[in-house]
Amino acid sequence: MTKVTVVGAGNVGSNAARRIAESNLADEVVMIDIVEGLPQGLALDINQSAPVVGFDTTVRGTNDYADTAGSEVVVITAGRPRTPGMSRMDLLDVNSDIVGGVTRQIADHSPGAVLIVVSNPLDEMTYLAAVVSGFPKERVMGMAGVLDSARLRFFIAEKLGVAPTSVEAITLGSHGDQMVALPRHATVGGKPLPELVGEDDLEALFTRTKGAGGEIVGYLKKGSAFYAPAVSSAAMVTAILSDDAGEVLPTCAWTTGQYGISDVYLGVPARLGRGGVTEIVELDLNPDEIAHLMEAAEAIRSKCQELDERRA
Ligand code: NAI
Ligand code: 2OP
Repeated sequence: MTKVTVVGAGNVGSNAARRIAESNLADEVVMIDIVEGLPQGLALDINQSAPVVGFDTTVRGTNDYADTAGSEVVVITAGRPRTPGMSRMDLLDVNSDIVGGVTRQIADHSPGAVLIVVSNPLDEMTYLAAVVSGFPKERVMGMAGVLDSARLRFFIAEKLGVAPTSVEAITLGSHGDQMVALPRHATVGGKPLPELVGEDDLEALFTRTKGAGGEIVGYLKKGSAFYAPAVSSAAMVTAILSDDAGEVLPTCAWTTGQYGISDVYLGVPARLGRGGVTEIVELDLNPDEIAHLMEAAEAIRSKCQELDERRA
């Protein structure tokens, strides 16, 4: 039986659980939250959509980790979202307590699981989940690059008046100020992006992408984006469960020398499968792009060291 657990039945978690159920790749999706009744009610609602949407996966809402036992993939969305004026890093203290506690429970009940961390600050929470779970690093990863790349693809499409699906683009680095956009690797209908958009416009597109989460927080006031984050998380689950595809997605993954970077979680292109990250793919980056990636790696490394010191 293929079981997927989503921790946190909030905006991102409930929408991710729904999307994973709709993909029909799991027998059961378990949604767990500390709020009593919330995951149970939402699970019932999602289950009642099954005949209309056409899926056979069962969604179970619970407050008991025993129900999550034996999960193959676990998506961790528990934690506080940002509100206006907050950076993702402002969530470090509160969310490290939540993510640390959740990870301990998950590791006890599903010792063979692949973990996908979504809670912010993303890169640091992914590192924390790896440390607390003690899982091999390839079985712990974070979701940000799928979302950030989708945002960039949408902004490029909007600018050029083309279909978002005709745009290919990837962002690497951190989920934050050290996001690395790669214009040389972006295409629109197969044409290189720099042939279609001038330097100033490119810069404006990347700046908007970096601030895209904050732009939505500014509108929502009470929380942060969830539709695109939820489907981005579900896309990673799909890539893991459809092992044969071996899909490459921008993933916050543990580096072991790729791009000259080691021993830090960082947004890189990664092939995903049932074992987690099966390969980090090395794109042909120029020295400037590598320098930006290294800057991102060092910024994340230093925040993770701070986290280690706080936990010591
Ligand atoms: P939300 O507030 O709607 O949901 C969070 C849920 O976590 C709540 O239902 C809450 O009861 C639950 N929770 C809190 N402590 C828990 C615990 N110990 N065990 C189980 N559940 C617990 O927030 P939302 O919008 O779903 O965001 C969740 C997290 O994801 C936030 O940290 C947010 O910043 C992050 N996020 C990350 C993105 C990314 O690209 N990596 C994108 C969007 C959000
Ligand atoms: C986002 O980028 C808040 O990290 C979240 O929307």
